[in-house]
Amino acid sequence: MIKKAKITGTGSYLPERVLTNQDLEKMVDTTDEWIVSRTGMKERRIARPDEFSSHMGAAAALKALAAAHLDASQVDFILVATLTPDCPIPSTACLIQKMIGAPQAGAVDISAACTGGLYALSLARALILSGTYKNVLVICSEKLSSFTDYTDRSTCVLFGDGASAYVVSSEGRGLAIEQIQLGADGEQAELLVIPGGGCRQPTSAVTIENRLHFIKMSGNEVFKHAVRRMEAACKECLDAADCKEEEISWLIPHQANVRIIDAIAKRFPHLPGDRIYKTVHKYGNTSASSCGIALDELLKTHTVHPGEKILLTAFGSGLTWGAALLRAE
Ligand code: UT7
Repeated sequence: MIKKAKITGTGSYLPERVLTNQDLEKMVDTTDEWIVSRTGMKERRIARPDEFSSHMGAAAALKALAAAHLDASQVDFILVATLTPDCPIPSTACLIQKMIGAPQAGAVDISAACTGGLYALSLARALILSGTYKNVLVICSEKLSSFTDYTDRSTCVLFGDGASAYVVSSEGRGLAIEQIQLGADGEQAELLVIPGGGCRQPTSAVTIENRLHFIKMSGNEVFKHAVRRMEAACKECLDAADCKEEEISWLIPHQANVRIIDAIAKRFPHLPGDRIYKTVHKYGNTSASSCGIALDELLKTHTVHPGEKILLTAFGSGLTWGAALLRAE
């Protein structure tokens, strides 16, 4: 029998507090009309001050484990995709390992910004297919509100907090991970950065004064790369799996901007518009968590029949990008 890596359970967690466009109108020089027409966003969720990426990730992970009917004691390895770890060390993965009660599991964070979920899924798949582990827990968790400059209208309207998780296993029924294509371009690293707080510009009075611990983005440039890279990743992924566009039941793109999603949709003319799953209007851009939150919601609100195929695609700082083809069993 051919070995497969399957997503046997998904989970997500969104904080209760809602930050609306009307709230943002009171904070910066913006309007609901501008935000909706330029991004498609109406509201996003914001974590409590005492709620961290570890808490949100653990909540999503426990839901994914329950969906997969797996006990935390059966998890062999934990991969956490986040650009907003609780702290530089220890890893958020180690903190979550303790919270969910999986002391036997190895645990590590990976850094690929908004594409982190797909990078983590790819590593989980490789660990399963190589026979190294049976059950890998992939968690994506972002508290972007801690790194968002709420005086910068060009970025503060975009980001929200939230988490998602996937159980990836060698056994059980679920979504087989048929193919994953990943890419990166360090030449474009400066387009989307948090410049301060690392060893290049350690936190100091000067970095704080210059607001270098917040996300800085060249929005227009990033937009163009996002459309081009996600389209190419999807096409490469489909080609590598010998799968035609017509065979796809759902496309779940990274939820960075509805105009980016619509631009990608135009490049897949055989895919009906209502088969492109969107959460951007209610959660904004939750970075690594976004595809997983959308997939979890899709699986909870729609029936996905055996044989149906779902294509995920993501793009983020690095630059990084990727696409993953899933097939329901
Ligand atoms: O998750 C990682 C990937 N991230 C992305 O893919 C995000 C990609 N970029 C984008 O989604 C868009 O570029 C933005 C939503 C960030 C910006 O939209 P845009 O249509 O590219 O606007 P722009 O940056 O070209 O700005 C147009 C105008 C500017 O004013 P002027 O110079 O034309 O007078 C901005 O100052 O809109 C102004 N502006 C705003 N106005 C009201 C920028 N932000 C705002 C705002 N409210 N919040």
